[in-house]
Amino acid sequence: MWSLRRLFLALGLRTMSMDLVDVEERPFVPTEYVVRLARTPWERAGYYALRREVFCEEQRVFSGDDRDVVDEIAIPIVAACCMAGMPDRVVGAVRIHEPEPGVWRGSRLAVHEDHRRLGRIGAELIRMAVSTAHGLGASQFLAQVQEQNVLFFRRLHWKSLGEVTLHGLPHHDMEADLSRYPAHEQDQTWLLRPQPRTRQVA
Ligand SMILES: CC(C)(COP(=O)(O)OP(=O)(O)OC[C@H]1O[C@@H](n2cnc3c(N)ncnc32)[C@H](O)[C@@H]1OP(=O)(O)O)[C@@H](O)C(=O)NCCC(=O)NCCS
Repeated sequence: MWSLRRLFLALGLRTMSMDLVDVEERPFVPTEYVVRLARTPWERAGYYALRREVFCEEQRVFSGDDRDVVDEIAIPIVAACCMAGMPDRVVGAVRIHEPEPGVWRGSRLAVHEDHRRLGRIGAELIRMAVSTAHGLGASQFLAQVQEQNVLFFRRLHWKSLGEVTLHGLPHHDMEADLSRYPAHEQDQTWLLRPQPRTRQVA
């Protein structure tokens, strides 16, 4: 913003530079996100980097790296924000795996904090995760959900099976209502377009 002001001043556009003083500063909001199974090396690298950022640096649930043995068999799913119509940076992640026949689990759901509550990225990652597992034959889909996110999952048609402590933090064992998540193939790519929030008028 200030560099723009300096540019306008240098060009003699004083009125325009004064106008910019009152312009609200807000972060850049991408117009599009894509959600899909991670297919490329950069998507996988971004997926692990985002998980480290959220679970190691932000939440401090793990130190250093959050990878574990589940990563050897899990299917990674990503949300990437787009620049000029092209996927540019991974800002959402989740993984799914099948610990026993027909029973699937989701874990490591994360959305970069600059992109939360913007384009339903978290909700769409869950939808992609459960519907993909359903398409792969899931008869049950479970997750261990941090307590502060239980309401979020309930609204997405999940029910709590009980409380558990995981990594020293309160969680709920939760189960998705599969009838709300139609089965689909693994080659899906979904496009999300964040809707600008309408200003509330008193
Ligand atoms: C939890 C998380 C994945 C949600 O992702 P998100 O992209 O911000 O969520 P969405 O935009 O899809 O939210 C959809 C709706 O749920 C609401 N919502 C989001 N998080 C919520 C929460 N924790 N509790 C209740 N409602 C919530 C949103 O406001 C939105 O409501 P709207 O449809 O009325 O606008 C994200 O906050 C996150 O990554 N947190 C840190 C890591 C984490 O907690 N992972 C989950 C471990 S179980």
